[in-house]
Formats: sequence, C-alpha cells, structure tokens
Amino acid sequence: MHLYGTQTIEANGHLVIGGVDTVELGEKYGTPLFVYDVALFRKRARGFIDTFAKQGIRAQVAYASKAFSAKAIYQVAAQEGLSVDVVSGGELYTALQAGFPSEKIHFHGNNKSVQELNEALDAKIGCIVIDNFYEIEQLKRLTTERQQKMNVLIRVTPGVEAHTHDFITTGQADSKFGFDLSNGQADEAFRALYEHEWLQLQGMHCHIGSQIFETEAFSLAAKKVVDKMANWKKETGFEATVLNLGGGFGIRYTDEDAPLEPATYVDDMIQAVKKEAEQFGIALPEIWIEPGRSLVGDAGTTLYTVGSHKTVPNVREYIAIDGGMSDNIRPALYEAKYEAILANRANDLATTTYTVAGKLCESGDKIIEEIQLPQAVAGDLLATFCTGAYGYSMASNYNRIGRPAVVFVENGKHQIVVKRESYEDLVKLDDMLNW
Ligand code: LLP
Repeated sequence: MHLYGTQTIEANGHLVIGGVDTVELGEKYGTPLFVYDVALFRKRARGFIDTFAKQGIRAQVAYASKAFSAKAIYQVAAQEGLSVDVVSGGELYTALQAGFPSEKIHFHGNNKSVQELNEALDAKIGCIVIDNFYEIEQLKRLTTERQQKMNVLIRVTPGVEAHTHDFITTGQADSKFGFDLSNGQADEAFRALYEHEWLQLQGMHCHIGSQIFETEAFSLAAKKVVDKMANWKKETGFEATVLNLGGGFGIRYTDEDAPLEPATYVDDMIQAVKKEAEQFGIALPEIWIEPGRSLVGDAGTTLYTVGSHKTVPNVREYIAIDGGMSDNIRPALYEAKYEAILANRANDLATTTYTVAGKLCESGDKIIEEIQLPQAVAGDLLATFCTGAYGYSMASNYNRIGRPAVVFVENGKHQIVVKRESYEDLVKLDDMLNW
C-alpha cells in the first residue's frame, strides 16, 4: 500500500488525511467525495518555487488549473505565491472570483473567443499565450481599439513530444497547438508581433506533453527554443525575457510510475537553459513552468461507497461503487491505472482480486481493472488515490448523476469547497417546452 502526503492508517484501519478520518468525512458529507490534502499541494508548490529561488533564478510557477479548477484551489495557489494558467473564460472567471491576482494569470488556448480575449483584457491579466495567426489578428485589433497594452508569449511546437519515459523528436510537429518552430511559422508570428505598439512580446512558450518522467525532453525543447531566441536577437536585436517550458511533470499513480522530485525537474531545466543561453549568447530569460498534475494529482483522493457485487464464475469478481466514469473518466479514456484501499478496513488482509465497476450505463465504466482488497461488503468505503488532477475537472453529468462534493482537509480541519450537485442543480438550466 502506497500512501501520499499526510495520509496515515490508524490502528482501527481507517485512512486519515490531513488529520481527518475519511470514514467520518464519508459519513458527514456523503460519497463520492473528492478529498484534497492541502498540505501536500503546498509542499508540491514549494518544491517547484524554492528550487528556482535557491538558485536565484527569476521564475514563475503557474498552476495549470485545468487539472482542477475551483475557487478554493485558486485561493491556496495565491497563498503559495503561484501564478495560474487558465484556458477558458470559465477558468478565468473562477480565478477572478476567488480574488486571484490578475497580473499572475496566464491565458492559454488554441481558439480563444473574442469575448474571452476581451475578458482577459478587462481583467488586465499578466500574459496571453498566443497560439495562432487568427489570434494575432484579433488581439492586434482589440488592443489597438482599446489602446491597451498586453504582454504576450508566442506558443511554439518545438518538435519534441514526450510521454512517460519516451520522447520523440519530429521535424514537423503535427499539433493543433502553437506555431511550428522549424517551418517558418514561429518566425512569421514573431515578425507580426515584436514591434507592435500594444502587444508586448516577452518570449516563447512550449509544452511538450504530460506525465513525463525524465528531464532530457525538457532540455531538448529548451535548446530549440533558446536557439530561436538567439536567431531573433541576431536579426532584430529583440531580447526575449521569458521562456515558458510548460507542464507535464509526472506523478506516481501505481508502482509502474517512477516520478522525479519537482526539484530534479527544475534543476535540470535551469542547467539546460543556462547552458543554451550562454552558448547562444543571450541573456538568461525568466523561466516559467506550468505544472498541473504534479501539484494536485496525488493531493486528491476519491471516497466511494461499495454497493453491489457480482461474481462471474472463474472469470471475475466485480464490486460496484456509487460513482464511476462521471467523476473519473481517465480509466475509460486513457486506460489510466489507479490504486485503491478499503478506507474503513485498511488493516484487513487483502485476499480478493476485484474489478471495481462504476454505476454508469456503459460496460467500459470501470475505475480499476484489477485490485487486491479485503473481502468487500456493501457499505465499505473505497478510497482511490491520486485522483486530484483531471478527475473533478473532467467530470460529467452522464446519466444525470450529480457531480461529487469536494472537501479540503488540513491540520485536522475540513471544509466543503465545492458542494455536491443536487437534483435541483441538475434541472436548473432546463426549461419546459412551451408549445
Ligand atoms: N501547460 C499546457 C499548455 C498544457 O496543455 C497542459 C496540459 C499543462 C500545462 C499541464 O500539464 P500537466 O502538468 O498537468 O501534465 N486530461 C489529460 C491531461 C491533459 C493535459 C493537457 N494539457 C489527463 O487526464 O491525463
């Protein structure tokens, strides 16, 4: 059994997170329930921020809030000195509603609407990461009309794609995001932007993938981008002040995953950028990163109640939980693997192999294909670990199942920060046909 952050198992077999008994949480708030270990989120944030600070590197660590967007997480992000990256008007609105400092918000997206761009300009956010030529046109028009300056980065695809332990370099990056670094598009974007009266070009952004377990791919991407910065400097004298290397730092879901410490990713990144900047003769830019999963992933645990049970003789033992793909689509979508325990009887011997099925009307609605657990009975509390990233944020109302509640725990305190969706909530947007 692998425990994360402040998790402990007490003598009575109960899983405790942030000093709070999960069995009590389940009884008080109901299940399914997302439980966030706030101290672990803070620890992960500091792991990134302190490593830059220790080396005296100017940096911004921007929480990629698509991983989990709710007012309370923006509050904690602000407390920890993080910046945030948002990818929609909705995420921007949520961050602003939470009082997040607008100058530390970065806006991403490959098809930002004019309304979203106006919202970003209204809020005077820190930076817009420009993705394509259409966006350049729109932003030029809007900032000129409004006579308003806006900091921008050019998002490039550096031809490095990383996933888990593998990465590939492709000459021609086939991606819906950003300007290709090698086919002239990034240069064209640069020429369109660098002398604009209202758009203040700061530098470049790239994001090479997700759940990455080694540092070489980041170094390679950094090298390609710094090389381009040096070219632009040579041609025009333009000095980039920001290099944003995106997110993608891996976390441990199961034994198959061996992530590095935040400090290791950051250290290697700093060394690579320093080396390339020196070699290509440019001033060291600020380094920005955008971790999502690695900040919230293992801080989140989902509590479910076990219900029905089915034996397929000689094939499989199913237990079914009171949630499923509506609160965790990742197993169905990516074949993602999770570990779980019975949070009310964690000290009992795990004697039985189960498939954990959800309650939604789809055969593929399984949370875990195979897991060893104590003999489970209806009413047991199942805890799935590492559901903090892309769990709640990808939740749906399929089968008109309300989305779970989210509770934050820290130092023995617990508070609901997102309420459970009720039946009334589910029909709130519906109107009766009037003919
Ligand atoms: N920056 C950019 C520009 C991104 O596109 C992403 C993720 C991140 C940062 C944060 O990446 P992270 O550190 O969380 O790996 N739904 C998928 C993940 C999609 C990631 C999309 N972009 C999943 O559940 O695995």
